Formats: sequence, C-alpha cells, structure tokens
Amino acid sequence: MEMRIALLGCGNVGTRLIRLLAAKDEALRHERNLAVTISGAYTRRAGGWLAPEGLTPATLAASGWPEGAAPGAGIPDAGQPFSGDSVTFARTCPADLLVEITTLNPVDGQPALDHVRAALSAGKHVVTANKGPIAHGLRELRALAAAHSVGLRFESTLMDGAPIINMMEYCLPVTEVISFRGLLNCTSNYVLSLMTDGMTLERAVAEAQRAGVAEADPSNDLDGWDAAVKATVIANALMGADIRPADVRRVGLGAEGMRQANAALKPGESLKQVAEGRREGQAVIARVSLQSLPPGDTLGSLSGMETGVRLLTDTMRELTLIEGEGDPTQTAMGILSDIVNIARAYPQA
Ligand SMILES: NC(=O)c1ccc[n+]([C@@H]2O[C@H](COP(=O)([O-])OP(=O)(O)OC[C@H]3O[C@@H](n4cnc5c(N)ncnc54)[C@H](OP(=O)(O)O)[C@@H]3O)[C@@H](O)[C@H]2O)c1
Repeated sequence: MEMRIALLGCGNVGTRLIRLLAAKDEALRHERNLAVTISGAYTRRAGGWLAPEGLTPATLAASGWPEGAAPGAGIPDAGQPFSGDSVTFARTCPADLLVEITTLNPVDGQPALDHVRAALSAGKHVVTANKGPIAHGLRELRALAAAHSVGLRFESTLMDGAPIINMMEYCLPVTEVISFRGLLNCTSNYVLSLMTDGMTLERAVAEAQRAGVAEADPSNDLDGWDAAVKATVIANALMGADIRPADVRRVGLGAEGMRQANAALKPGESLKQVAEGRREGQAVIARVSLQSLPPGDTLGSLSGMETGVRLLTDTMRELTLIEGEGDPTQTAMGILSDIVNIARAYPQA
C-alpha cells in the first residue's frame, strides 16, 4: 500500500520525522507493506512545495530541506513551488494524509485548528503532534473525520509519543478512565527541582535555558498553560469530556503559588507541577497546581526531564506510564505509529 503524506510545519519534529521515515523505509515496506512518500510540505518562512508523485523520505532527507528557510528556498528536485496560504495548502495538497506539526497556540489552537479542519473536509487523513487543535476542537474534528471517512490521530500530543492514547484505544477497549494525575511539563519540573536545591526562580530558569530545557520565553511552561493544554487533551480524548484549556484551573510558578507551595513542603518531600483530572457526575474537572509529593510517590521521584502519568481505570485499576528524557525523534515515532495505524484502518487509502 502507498501513502502520500504532506507536512504542514517542518521544524524539530518534522526534520526528525523525515529522517525516521528514511531510516525505517525498508522495515515499513517489508513488515507493514507500507510505502510512505512525501508529496508536499509548507513552513511559515520557507513557503511550500508540491511533488504529486511523492518523494521518498531518503530523497527529501538528502535534499536538506527546509535548510535556508527563505521563501521558496531549497525546493527539492522534482518539487514545484506552492504559492497559496497554509490553509489552502492543507486543503489542496496532493496527499492522502496531512501531518500537522506547526507551533502550538494554547489560547485558541489557531491556525492549526483550521489546518486540520481543511484537510479533513477535503478527505485527507490527519496526524498531528500539535495539542492546540485537539484541545480546542477534538469533538468537532472527530465528527468531521467520521463524516469524510478519514482518520484523525494525535499520539504525540502527550508525552512525546509514548503510547498512552494508542494504549487505551488498542489495548484497553471499553475501559473507562476515572481520573488521571501526571507530571506533563518537564520544563516546570526541572526548574522546580533546581529551586528545591536552593536556587531562585530566576536563576533556575536561566540554568534551564542554558541546559536547553527551557525555551527563550518559557512562560507557557511555567504559567501552567502547556500542562493545562495536555490535561485538556487527556480529559477530552480519554475521558470523553469537552473542556477547553481555559477551564483548567492553573497555579503556575509565580510568587504566590511558590509561597503557598513552599509553606506546605515537608522535609523529604518534592515540589512538582501536577496536572490532574477526575470525573464529577457527567463532568471532568481538571487542574494544574504545585504540590508537595511525599517520598515513595512514583511521580514525586521523577527527575530531570522525565514525565509521567498515572491513570485510574475501571478495569486495570492504576496504570503508570513514565517517559525518560524525551526528544523530537520520540515525537516523530508517535507520528509514524499514527501513520501506520491509519494505513491499517483505511487500507484503501
Ligand atoms: N519538539 C518536541 O519534541 C515536541 C513534542 C511533542 C509535541 N510537539 C509539538 O509538535 C509541534 C512541532 O514542534 P517543533 O518542535 O517541531 O516546533 P518548531 O521546531 O518550532 O517547528 C514549527 C514548524 O511549524 C512552522 N509553522 C509555524 N507556524 C506556521 C504557520 N502558521 N504556517 C505554516 N508553518 C508554520 C514553522 O515554520 P518556520 O520555521 O518557517 O517559522 C516550523 O517549520 C508543536 O505543536 C509542538 O508543540 C513537539
């Protein structure tokens, strides 16, 4: 089976995905009878190109695209320039499946939400690592996918592609998630561990930036927005809720939150940014807060860049998934697994 994919966004994750597809090309063909080619791509700075026949991942990896990132720069051999906007690209690119990997907008998920809408409405499968459209539009997007008989998958929106959504869907059918509790944002917890060792918030953030753990503007992480968006994805995807990130109560690493959390901290405990959610009647209530976790609490023992989530379910009771230091190749692996699962579910693609 052949699957032509197009990339909307190609930064850290996209470049790793191209390399991973190239490295796994033979295995995909032999073990899964799946030939993945890339028939177009678009980024904000480099613009877009189309290759309706599809380039092999190895050809695209060798081209170095999108290095240079000037408009139209480095269009790979056999590619034609695409001159429309990103939503038009999502709708019209000659692909079976769109991989949406543009930047997260936690406030309203745009323009990625429109990218996903446009692709699904045009009868393309969608795989995304972008939490924005899933946190802000999952119910609508699932209905759109069903109406157009296409797949929508988003494993890499949580824990860099560690298989939490696929685990629930494929391994634990008809299982209900009653509650969840997790350390979902590694930047905050890295900063908190440095502060537990006595650093001020400012010094800890500077150290996290120096170590490449925090972005130049880490406010989405430290204010709890990133964790709130992930909590929304878990609530909506695994618990059937329809909440938005703004519905998640948040206490970030600001002065008041830190004062209260430090006052509650007992010897031996560790301070963590915890995202959690639980059913309350028909609703799911989620929050992000600073909590002091006692020794022996598995989540409390996570350090450095580790993330983890504990699900309380009605069939398997507690399940805890821990991911070691994540990187964009793991995120790319989550996307690859979603592509394979869509190919399996829609063999006519
Ligand atoms: N990095 C990870 O390990 C990881 C883990 C889990 C989830 N994710 C999610 O995966 C997505 C991609 O992450 P990343 O690390 O690859 O980000 P990145 O390196 O910042 O790359 C983002 C890409 O999206 C493009 N882009 C942004 N806005 C666009 C727009 N409006 N139209 C077209 N292209 C646009 C950028 O183009 P320009 O470069 O030309 O501006 C760039 O190619 C994000 O949503 C992120 O939250 C990432």
